[in-house]
Amino acid sequence: MEICRDTASMMALSDRWHAEGQRVVLVATMGALHEGHLTLVSHAQDWAQRNGGGRVVTSIFVNPTQFGEAEDLAKYPRTEEADLALLGQAGADAVFLPGVQDIYLPGAQTVVDVSRLSMVLMGKLRPGHFRGVATVVTKLFNITDCDAATFGEKDYQQLTLIRQMVRDLNARVQIIPVPTVREADGLAMSSRNQRLAPEDRAAAPVLNRALDRAEALAAEGATIAAIRRGVAEILATEPRGVVQSIDIRNAADLSAVAGKPDQPVVVLLAVRFGGVLLIDQRVASPSI
Ligand code: PAF
Repeated sequence: MEICRDTASMMALSDRWHAEGQRVVLVATMGALHEGHLTLVSHAQDWAQRNGGGRVVTSIFVNPTQFGEAEDLAKYPRTEEADLALLGQAGADAVFLPGVQDIYLPGAQTVVDVSRLSMVLMGKLRPGHFRGVATVVTKLFNITDCDAATFGEKDYQQLTLIRQMVRDLNARVQIIPVPTVREADGLAMSSRNQRLAPEDRAAAPVLNRALDRAEALAAEGATIAAIRRGVAEILATEPRGVVQSIDIRNAADLSAVAGKPDQPVVVLLAVRFGGVLLIDQRVASPSI
């Protein structure tokens, strides 16, 4: 597994791979890797195999511009040694570990702003977050010169925004969506789960149960209001979870929906357990 610690070595490696006729697939992460990230790597490897051969590069970069002032960038887990061991086992071909100075050059003036999708849902609670994500992902696409990149469906707004950005900027990167990986009890895998108190960890699978209910209600032809009520009822069975938001939106573009849906909708949950905010989502298709 090759390790590139700066932009020049990453660009040289990508040029070499392309010269050898290999496609390049990017798995962008902020480290603290778990099984969910390794699933992104295996989807990247599958894509490469299906598309005539390729190499997978995982980036590990804790991107300062997607953290708000009140969010603790310094406390974000940094587990480089363990991450490299996991990626080696998973068969990643390279790891890109840039420093902040490689990504954000002094005097930089350009940002990428996906205007509407950055401002809705989580974007309202975390001003500037999605601008930071879109900007760093554009840079990672350019530096790795990737042909494709995986993104988890768990961060559904991020995935939707990156698809929109690729379309708007005519970027030649295929986005590979990867379904959420869950623990045996249904809790979506996340580096945040490590910070849950044991009682909260036991309560947290309620999100998955609420999403199961939403999916069943949508399939029965329920209205948006009835789906929301059903989800709220299930979440209320676990008083340790403080519901921050239940959003139901058009699954394709996150626009608002009302009445009885005739298109797939996405149900997005944000629930706080102690100091830890958990998010989860599910696309639910109506019976038509
Ligand atoms: O999903 C993440 O881990 C980050 O938002 C990403 C895409 C690596 C950008 O920093």
